[in-house]
Amino acid sequence: MSRLRPHVLPMRTLMIAACCMAATFSARVQSQPAVPPPSRLGLCAACHGPSGNASVPGMPNLAGQRLDYLRDALSQYRDGRRNVPVMRAAIGPVSAAELDALARWYSAQSPQPQAHP
Ligand code: HEC
Repeated sequence: MSRLRPHVLPMRTLMIAACCMAATFSARVQSQPAVPPPSRLGLCAACHGPSGNASVPGMPNLAGQRLDYLRDALSQYRDGRRNVPVMRAAIGPVSAAELDALARWYSAQSPQPQAHP
């Protein structure tokens, strides 16, 4: 019967802790969205929320909306077919490439249940 050396137990505890941390870390990484948030997201998040789930009453949710629908809507605000001053002002300074990144971002988000049904 071998006697436990004093360093064996702490070493094992450390290894288990390290494994747990690694598992937690990789789970957290997997739950992150695949795409990083677009640089101009802050412009839209005030009204539509960072994940497209609007917390402001009267603002449409964009999360999970079809990408082609979002692209169409944005081009309609851009060219005035949808004449909504607040949206036209919001996208005014945003380039076409940035708008496309925003549309892809919002389309990839998950819709949340309504906070205020
Ligand atoms: C000041 C508030 C505000 C900001 C900022 C804003 N929006 Fe909007 N957005 C609105 C409102 C209000 C509507 C609904 C307009 C309408 O009736 O067509 C809307 C509609 C939209 C729609 C169409 C939704 C649908 O279901 O048809 C899209 C797409 C959209 N916004 C994207 C954006 C993007 C991208 C940005 C950032 C560049 C942005 N919005 C910034 C208020 C805002």
